Parts: sequence; C-alpha cells; structure tokens
Amino acid sequence: MVVLTFFNHAGGVAKTSTVRDLGYVLAESGRRVLLIDMDPQANLTKWLGVDDDVDLADTAYPAVLGAMDSEGDVDDAEMLLPPPRQVHGMDLIPAQLNIAIIEREILSVFMGVLRLREAVRRLQGYDYVLIDPPPSLGQLSALAVVAADRVVVPLPTNRKGLDGIQTVIKMVREYRKAAPGLGIVLFVLTQHDRRTRHDRESHDIITAQLPALAPISSPLSSRPAYYSDAQVKGMPIPVYAPGSEADQEIRQVARELLAALGSRS
Ligand SMILES: Nc1ncnc2c1ncn2[C@@H]1O[C@H](COP(=O)(O)OP(=O)(O)OP(=O)(O)O)[C@@H](O)[C@H]1O
Ligand SMILES: [Mg+2]
Repeated sequence: MVVLTFFNHAGGVAKTSTVRDLGYVLAESGRRVLLIDMDPQANLTKWLGVDDDVDLADTAYPAVLGAMDSEGDVDDAEMLLPPPRQVHGMDLIPAQLNIAIIEREILSVFMGVLRLREAVRRLQGYDYVLIDPPPSLGQLSALAVVAADRVVVPLPTNRKGLDGIQTVIKMVREYRKAAPGLGIVLFVLTQHDRRTRHDRESHDIITAQLPALAPISSPLSSRPAYYSDAQVKGMPIPVYAPGSEADQEIRQVARELLAALGSRS
C-alpha cells in the first residue's frame, strides 16, 4: 500500500481535481484505491457525487479523535477509519464542514499529528490511499501530509504556482520530522494555458528548475468548462469526457505517477 497526499498550501491549485481524477484512473486499471477527504470544504466528496448528509462519524474524525458513543463520550481506544462509501470504483472517506473541529481539538492530544498516519497504517486491502488536504498550513494539512509515504504537489503553471514552491518544499521538510522518509514524488503541472505567454514562461521556469528536486509531470491543460461541468455531474473527468484530450492528459499523468513511484503502469 502506498499513501499519497496531494499537498500545496496554496488554494485552488487543483489538489482536489487531481486526487479525484488520478484516483479514478488508478482504480479503473484494477488497483484498489481509497480516497480520504480531509478538507472541511468537502469538495472531493461533493464532486464525486455524494450529495446526501455526511455524518461526522462517516469522516476521518473518529480515526483522529475517537468515536463518540450515544452519550457523547469519546472512546479513543479504537481509532479506526469508518467504513468507506463506494464512488466510481473507488472507496471514499468523505468530509463535511465540522471536520474543521479537528484543527482545534487535535492540539490537546499528545503526538496528535500522528493520528491519521496510525489509522491509515491499520488499513488493509488497498494499493493506493490518496489524501486531499485543505489549502492551509494548519493541523488538517499536517495530519494529511504526515500520514503519507510520498507527497504529490499539484502546481499551476503560473505566478501563483511559482510563488508557492519554496513554502511547499520547506513544509515537506518540516513534516518529515514526524514522517521519516517523506518526500515529493512528483510535481503535477495543472491548469496550464499554453495560449498565454505567461503560462508558457512559467512552465519553462518550472521544468528548468524543479527536476533537481523531483520529477515533473506533463501538463494538465486548463479547460474550465470541462472541470465545472464534471463537478456539477459528480464525475471524474475520465467519466465525464472519456477519450477526450483532457482524459488522455490525466491518463498520461497517471502513468508518470506510477513511473515515479517505481511501479509498472
Ligand atoms: N485543468 C483545469 N482546467 C480548468 N479549471 C481547473 C482545472 N483544474 C482545476 N480547475 C478548477 O480550479 C479550481 C480549483 O481546483 P481544485 O478545487 O481542484 O483545487 P484545490 O487546490 O483543491 O483547491 P482548494 O485549495 O480550495 O482545496 C476549481 O474550480 C476547478 O474546477
Ligand atoms: Mg481542494
């Protein structure tokens, strides 16, 4: 089992879209995939078509802070992830707004930052666990990254992407103190608009400078209409637009991810 957290503290860089779509492609090729939504925005949950009420008990909360009994007392003896839902051939631990409580409550737990890492390591039967953190440097992100074996960094080919790189690298180094061996396995280039000179130049800077740190994927092109329509329909891009260029680009990045991980596509 390989645990991958898609980390970039910057907002809106396509973390959630990339988890959804790469998770789908891995599952479709016969791998057993679990997605964990660690963002109170719950975009991953919603964009996979889960529109019923999600209880806090269905989220990663009980694995991190313990399950509550009917009296509201917390039993932290059994720190397990709840049974997942099935979505598009993947398993999903959904999120909802109240997982934001974790940010505050985990601070009073000794070595609390390790709690998701420990819970994920008790899982059996998965080839890949993909974790989607929120856009922040708070406790939810720390839990998510410390749970990982490797970090995937979604990176838009623009000013925002370039500006965030130093912090991403610095934070992965910090998180490594709690997760030995943690490192960046792949930079996934996202939201690339090759028609603009700004994006082409940013792309060139990234591909010139970052390979010293980790491999860089081929770019996922900017396609606003596809991405927003797929979200409304609750579908990964390869389900929404099978055979499209967007689909082919995602499959190519999935192959590059597997190559970077050292497994055969
Ligand atoms: N290739 C793309 N082309 C066009 N729009 C995209 C692309 N990838 C992502 N988007 C859009 O960019 C926005 C941000 O994407 P997404 O929510 O996946 O990023 P995020 O990093 O998870 O954001 P947050 O930090 O809020 O969690 C979304 O509206 C999404 O539809
Ligand atoms: Mg997100």
